[in-house]
Amino acid sequence: ALDPEAFIKAQCDVIGKTVGDGTAVNALSGGVDSSVVTMLAHRALGDRLKTFFIDNGLMREGEPQRVVDILQQCGAPVTLVDARDEFFAALKGKTDPEEKRQAITDTFYKAVFSRLVKQSGAKHLLQGTIYTDVEETVAGIKRQHNILAQLGIDTAKEYGYTVIEPLIQLRKPAVRTVGRALGLPDEITNRPPFPGPALVARVIGEATPERIALVRKATVVLEEELADVDAFQYMAILHNDRIPGMRDGKRDYGLQIEVRCWDSRDARTATPTHLPFDLLERLAGRMTSEVRGVVSVTYNIASKPPSTMEAV
Ligand code: XMP
Repeated sequence: ALDPEAFIKAQCDVIGKTVGDGTAVNALSGGVDSSVVTMLAHRALGDRLKTFFIDNGLMREGEPQRVVDILQQCGAPVTLVDARDEFFAALKGKTDPEEKRQAITDTFYKAVFSRLVKQSGAKHLLQGTIYTDVEETVAGIKRQHNILAQLGIDTAKEYGYTVIEPLIQLRKPAVRTVGRALGLPDEITNRPPFPGPALVARVIGEATPERIALVRKATVVLEEELADVDAFQYMAILHNDRIPGMRDGKRDYGLQIEVRCWDSRDARTATPTHLPFDLLERLAGRMTSEVRGVVSVTYNIASKPPSTMEAV
């Protein structure tokens, strides 16, 4: 079993020795892995660590500021970087799921984050890679973006900085244990999974600022109504079809939201949660009245596989 205090001490030593009297940077997403790395590295380096939260414009309602505030309260200062326009410019006109995902990865690493690393002059970069990320990449299930070293890429030579991955031997439950020992609140350590491409994973077709705002609003409704449901993950998805409907007694075209709610152990397979019908009806009522233009609400009843959990 993992002794969190011993782990924290050992990793702080490694980080301290590796960085020496230099400086390091990391990017915080608000997920449990990057939050734990932020706390660990902050403990090891103090103000020689610079942590950025990059607001890509694709997150949930109030999420960027909320995450920054929590880490601040835990004693780890974070700089919020507004990169919304850059991400939307990269997504413009893209409808293919892989192209949308690639646009986000490229904007994050090649444009925004590498610029911040360069400006900071830091020679060390901390990442929240965990053991599962390595396993999935090696197995070819899902190429996680953060396993450069495992792919044999010498970042010191190629990019001028060294990557430190303090969580690389841990799986999720152990990361949560370490997070609690570091003083992170349950809101972070028990956070349900949320994908890196954020709300773009829940918009079929082009992810414009308007369409992201719409799915964000639907997500607020969904998360309020399902807050007490014991599921692995749930999501509201904006479809791309124009759905015939009725507005003010007249035939009109509107939008369709698909709700998914998953039971799963490890995200590799999943089945739809047996949600009570009155809850689904309440969701439909709120989505059609509170989310502008929505005339149709569906509930997904297919399993993964062949489905995936996200829509993109
Ligand atoms: P899929 O859609 O592949 O999702 O069935 C399985 C789990 O992975 C999450 N997911 C991601 N997580 N970066 C992540 O960190 C990503 O690009 C990404 N795509 C999907 C998804 O939310 C689900 O929990």
